[in-house]
Amino acid sequence: MTTATATAHANIALVKYWGKRDAERMLPATSSLSLTLDAFHTTTTVDLTDGADVDVALDGEALTGAALTKVQRFVDLVRGRDDVDPDVARRGARISSANTVPTGAGLASSASGFAALAGATAAAYGLDLTPRDLSRLARRGSGSASRSVFGDFVVWHAGDLEDPERGDLTSFAEPVPAAAGLDVAMAVVVLDAGPKSIGSREAMARTVATSPYFPAWVQHTEVDVREAEAAIAAGDLERLGDLAEASAMRMHATMLAARPAVRYLAPASLEVLDAVLGLRAAGTGAWATMDAGPNVKVLCAREDLDAVARVLADSGRRRVIPARPGPGLAVTR
Ligand code: PMV
Repeated sequence: MTTATATAHANIALVKYWGKRDAERMLPATSSLSLTLDAFHTTTTVDLTDGADVDVALDGEALTGAALTKVQRFVDLVRGRDDVDPDVARRGARISSANTVPTGAGLASSASGFAALAGATAAAYGLDLTPRDLSRLARRGSGSASRSVFGDFVVWHAGDLEDPERGDLTSFAEPVPAAAGLDVAMAVVVLDAGPKSIGSREAMARTVATSPYFPAWVQHTEVDVREAEAAIAAGDLERLGDLAEASAMRMHATMLAARPAVRYLAPASLEVLDAVLGLRAAGTGAWATMDAGPNVKVLCAREDLDAVARVLADSGRRRVIPARPGPGLAVTR
């Protein structure tokens, strides 16, 4: 097979991933847990070429510089595998990718992007990987991409902490079984769709190296993942929402304690956090989470989504995108 197309949806972590223990193998310091969303996806086509070069177009524009190098390294990872036919491995690729996620705005474009790239590249180079191995492969492009291989609630295991080789084999994502009737949704408040001030890779490395709160973050996150799994299994949205908001706050606290501080939240983010407190005070279950950007995503029951989105939009002052749980990676050859 020399051409393949894959579609992957973005995911938003409810228990966050922040910090690597092995940057080369993309092994995280902790496990994390997410919800895949239907509202944002990336579709990527990989066409093998006769030459050896790898060209990439993102939303019709040729990728250059560090962004291109990152994709080329990822393709080399696939081409360098023992299980790829040597004649096929020599071939280059023309890659085109279309995003419905505003790139680089903390709306997890790297997650859907690298999950789709993993699916399409593996298939184009003739690999037939299990979802678990696709998740391990996507992880090498961007950690959070490991989770976008699956739909709905997903856990990404930190993997074996002692031995890096075993860590690579055991750090993958998989679906989290949910109680029937746990119908969730997310209102995504888009405050700034522009590029972010500092990339998550550099910001994580700085946090790990300089934040005195980082060890506490690691310790609490493993506990939070287990509790979130239990809340999902029990269908306890309030417990899950509470854990999710606490995890987001702690992640931002640990990066604010880095030197220099890493700050993604803007004044407008805090205004949304106040609105979420207001919703809860008025008796509506709504819980906020924020990633590597100013946008705020608000978890709620599906039946409350319209009402929550209306309040957060604040009479049209803010752009709110309603989202529901989305599907896992789909590859067509
Ligand atoms: O894998 P990256 O570089 O997209 O890192 C994502 C980190 C956060 O979005 C902030 C948290 C998470 O778990 O997705």
